[in-house]
Parts: sequence; C-alpha cells; structure tokens
Amino acid sequence: MKRPVKRIVFCLGVALLVVAGFMAGRDMMAPKGWLVDTPSSQSRGAALIGGPFTLVDHTGKTVTEADFRGRFLFIYFGFTYCPDACPTALTAMAEALDIIGPAADRIVPVFISVDPERDTPEQMAMYVRHFHPALVGLTGSADQVAAAAKAYRVYYAKATEEGSDEGEYTMDHTSIVYLMGPDGKFRTHFSGHATSPETMAKGILDVL
Ligand code: NI
Repeated sequence: MKRPVKRIVFCLGVALLVVAGFMAGRDMMAPKGWLVDTPSSQSRGAALIGGPFTLVDHTGKTVTEADFRGRFLFIYFGFTYCPDACPTALTAMAEALDIIGPAADRIVPVFISVDPERDTPEQMAMYVRHFHPALVGLTGSADQVAAAAKAYRVYYAKATEEGSDEGEYTMDHTSIVYLMGPDGKFRTHFSGHATSPETMAKGILDVL
C-alpha cells in the first residue's frame, strides 16, 4: 500500500520535470502512421480510433467494448509502474469527472494496461482505486492488449534503462486520453499528462 502512494507522489513531482522532455520525445517514440498528439493529426486520426476489444477487468471478469455500450468511455492506456505520465493523466481524469459532477455518471473512466506481464487484474485493482472509485482497470493477454492498443492507435514498447537491474523495465507509450461516445465512436481526445482537469471537463461537457 505504501509503495504505490509514495510512487505516485514522487511521480507527480517528476512529471513536471519530464513533461517537456516527453513532449519533445513523443513524436520520435511513435512510428509513422500512429496517432501522436499533435494538432495536425487530430482530424486525420479521429475516425480511425476505437473498435472491438476483449480484455479482463480488475475484478478478473472478461469484458468487451459491447459491455460499455450506452455509456461514454474515458480511456487512457498506460501501466501501473509508470513513474510519470500515467499518474498525472489519471489524476487529471479523476478531477475532471469530479468537476463535471452528477453528469459524470454517464462516463466510465477506463485505464487499459500496456504492460500485461506485470499488470495482473489484482495489480490493476490495487492501483485504480487510488485515483477514482469509478475507474475500471483493464488488462489481458499480450494479444488482447495488443489488439486493443491497435484499435486505439496507441503505441507502446518495452524499454530498459542503462544500468537498471535485470528484468527491470519501463514502457514507452502514447499518452492520450480518449472520450468515446455511447455508440462506441470517437468524440474527442486530450493530451494525457499536459491537460488541466478544467480543460478536460470543459471538453467533455462540450460533447456530452
Ligand atoms: Ni505512463
């Protein structure tokens, strides 16, 4: 219990320092053709975002996109060991939902792991409750996660830092929050770690 909280607090501090580096590095991280968070890619990528997925939620139940039909989905891909972007994005998402108030009941916030090796349903359950009571953690097999990430044009890759212990790794990943409509279609998106909760709330209310 103690470690994740410490990690999140630490990460929020680190996030401020690395945001600039992340923003500069993200385009290099994403191969050509993947959606990156630049204004020019917004209209081009929007229609291609979303689609069927089969994943396992943080209670261990297998779910598909059809289980969420009829409600807005507020989706972010990341991993629970993420030191920076993920805690920042998930905190902003949670605060945006709080700002929206009762209307947020129509929205399901979802955190999809790109690190199924470490992010078991149990690990996801432990993690998501630190952010928002409604946050659903989704993970699955490597293939299930790959298919979901592909549907959302999310890039991710394992990365090992020089000098780190054997078996220790981090994940590079796209940091975009998606809002999908009750029909499963793309509505809008935000930079995950560089958008204020107020801006997210306003953007959501515009399409709710
Ligand atoms: Ni992350």
